[in-house]
Amino acid sequence: MIELEGVTKRYGDVVAVEDLSFSVADGEVCVLIGPSGCGKSTTIKMINRVIEPSSGRILIDGKPAGGERPEVLRRRIGYVIQSIGLFPHMSVAENIAVVPKLLRWDAARIRFRVDELLALIGLNPESYRGKYPRDLSGGEAQRIGVARALAADPPLLLMDEPFGAVDPLGRLGLQSEFLKIQRRLRKTVIFVTHDLDEAIRIADRIVLLDRGRLVQEDTPERLLSEPRNGFVKSFVGTDRALKRLSRFLVADHLRPARSLSVDDPELASRAGALKEEGARFAWISDRAGRLFGWLDLAEALGDPTRSLTRAAPSETGVLPTDSLRDALSRMLGQGITVVPVVDDDGRLVGELSLADVERLTEV
Ligand SMILES: Nc1ncnc2c1ncn2[C@@H]1O[C@H](COP(=O)(O)OP(=O)(O)O)[C@@H](O)[C@H]1O
Ligand SMILES: [Mg+2]
Repeated sequence: MIELEGVTKRYGDVVAVEDLSFSVADGEVCVLIGPSGCGKSTTIKMINRVIEPSSGRILIDGKPAGGERPEVLRRRIGYVIQSIGLFPHMSVAENIAVVPKLLRWDAARIRFRVDELLALIGLNPESYRGKYPRDLSGGEAQRIGVARALAADPPLLLMDEPFGAVDPLGRLGLQSEFLKIQRRLRKTVIFVTHDLDEAIRIADRIVLLDRGRLVQEDTPERLLSEPRNGFVKSFVGTDRALKRLSRFLVADHLRPARSLSVDDPELASRAGALKEEGARFAWISDRAGRLFGWLDLAEALGDPTRSLTRAAPSETGVLPTDSLRDALSRMLGQGITVVPVVDDDGRLVGELSLADVERLTEV
């Protein structure tokens, strides 16, 4: 648990952070966000005591951070920054092992830990432990930075724009990887970003700053649905209803769907029965149960295969783990108002309609 109580940082006449109070519960990801210069980095640096507050208190697990030697304090805090300074002359394994070495872990324990962390961040230990930073892509280097921060298993993780230097696609990958790791490790995380989409994807709670002051502290859902004032409204943007959709998972909103088998000899009569029930179309699966296409029931009598539209699961369907925002862009991209939900093998597990999505954007 981290608590900030009325924390202020002044540089001469400049007030970098002003009377800031918020707390972060154990296992929670708190995202600090706001325009450039609003005091995000200053706040993070006061927590691990790279700089000292001018006034106010910071408590870590109930104890004032100021009461402890900074070196001791930092052992409990992993710190990840943008373009993480990996030591160029050290291998990946040596880079990750820096803190465990300082803590005098024995060699076998360090080796085990390095491999464990490489596996955790999705890099093959065999091929990566001996590499040097110059052999890594930007995204890989950033992952090693995260592994290094996690090396001594600190309960607290401070991340200052950790993915800021990575291209947008690589950044998406790093975010989902971070979430996967966080679900397992449940660290207490303060994550700084100026990228609202990133904040919405990863935050349990968002603290929005403007010129050193806290403007709104809320869950991503509420920040988007109930912006407190004009600043928040303009910060979250006019498309906040759409942004909010990325907080919802398809799995939580799909409806059951039935499919007919493409080589069912009774296909025509079954399609007819569905039409009688008021259905406008029917999903069609192949022999293995994979999504094969759909039938437009307005035309489908007589030879149903003539009104069959083919649809590859990966192009038309969405996964239960996708967000409603992904589902919406699939609908818009494909011109369909009902999107099939498929599992990893392409089997139909449900469907989601534009009307369902619309209901959720009424904020
Ligand atoms: N060492 C410093 N001396 C003077 N002003 C500083 C110093 N560090 C930060 N500031 C000022 O404090 C404000 C907040 O900076 P910072 O925390 O780095 O913002 P952010 O990380 O949100 O972009 C800015 O106006 C910045 O110019
Ligand atoms: Mg900064």
